[in-house]
Amino acid sequence: MVSEGANSNTLIIGSTGFIGRFIAEASLDSGHPTYLLMRPASPGLSKTTHTIDSLQDRGAIILNDFLEKVLKEHKIEVVISVVGGERILDQLILLEAIKSAGTVKRFLPSEFGHDIDKADPVEPGLSMYNEKRRVRRAIEAAGIPYTYICCNSIAGWPYHDNIHPADVLPPLDRFHIYGDGTVKAYFVAGSDIGKFTIKTIDDVRTINKSVHFRPPSNLFSINQLASLWEQCIGRKLPRVTISEDDLLAAAEEMRIPQSIVASFTHDIFIKGCQVNYEIEKPNDIEVCSLYPDTPFLTVDECFQEFAKRAAVDVSKSK
Ligand SMILES: NC(=O)c1ccc[n+]([C@@H]2O[C@H](COP(=O)([O-])OP(=O)(O)OC[C@H]3O[C@@H](n4cnc5c(N)ncnc54)[C@H](OP(=O)(O)O)[C@@H]3O)[C@@H](O)[C@H]2O)c1
Repeated sequence: MVSEGANSNTLIIGSTGFIGRFIAEASLDSGHPTYLLMRPASPGLSKTTHTIDSLQDRGAIILNDFLEKVLKEHKIEVVISVVGGERILDQLILLEAIKSAGTVKRFLPSEFGHDIDKADPVEPGLSMYNEKRRVRRAIEAAGIPYTYICCNSIAGWPYHDNIHPADVLPPLDRFHIYGDGTVKAYFVAGSDIGKFTIKTIDDVRTINKSVHFRPPSNLFSINQLASLWEQCIGRKLPRVTISEDDLLAAAEEMRIPQSIVASFTHDIFIKGCQVNYEIEKPNDIEVCSLYPDTPFLTVDECFQEFAKRAAVDVSKSK
């Protein structure tokens, strides 16, 4: 299952980002020698500086050099890219460096969402998927061993205008329910996105595969999410319907990044893009079938954490 020489030297690009910090923490937790490639810091980014400091305290090695030099000098075997949606095509330059260096045994491009070859959102989400598809085809043409992480939604309230929904609390005033609220999606804790991603990198079963995160316990409709959150906070909230047309209108506004999120919200909660296809062997593999003994955090556990934060926030505001 796990290749010889496991605990490969692992380079993460984008570790200060929303998804990237979970990947970096999981890499350090698992004992992989963890290298983080940083761009020169923008002035005043105190949150970023704090993230870098805490990862460095835990043993991460920070690098600022040219990528090809970094790959060769540190004998990097695994590269995980977690660059944001607006920087997807930067990875084409990264691929050239990986090809020249010749040390890399596995590349995980910045995916961390849906299976972009199967999902078909409206614009402007489609343009982002087209860029991600271009990166996939370039990896495959170059013959670089890859793993595509299709982790579905991060556990949190799926706001249709927020790219980082797990960074904010679920609603405390009213719910926006998409369509009839019955279409289901998978909600995976950020720490589990990190943990299971890192499990795949030295696993020979995941070479040249799309790994789908479909833990049965984390499959919820938005109606069910709303009821769960009401149980956590001990009160009922009003529900407002956001129709398919409302979501399409928000996508058509072309406000970036909000309209991209609206197009994905439409794809998830109206079209059912996470549940409307079967996992197809041999290219697709489901993560629970790989690691059946490792449990996922439940959505209930994640929402209980949000409820504790909400209680703190409410008491602070009094
Ligand atoms: N499943 C989900 O629910 C979900 C949610 C959000 C995102 N995603 C996906 O996750 C991936 C990451 O998105 P994100 O929102 O986490 O990104 P993000 O928060 O915008 O962070 C991007 C990171 O990439 C770094 N970066 C960008 N361009 C770079 C470059 N050329 N060289 C080196 N570092 C670079 C940034 O560094 P600086 O600190 O220098 O800016 C930052 O650390 C995307 O593919 C996105 O579609 C999935």
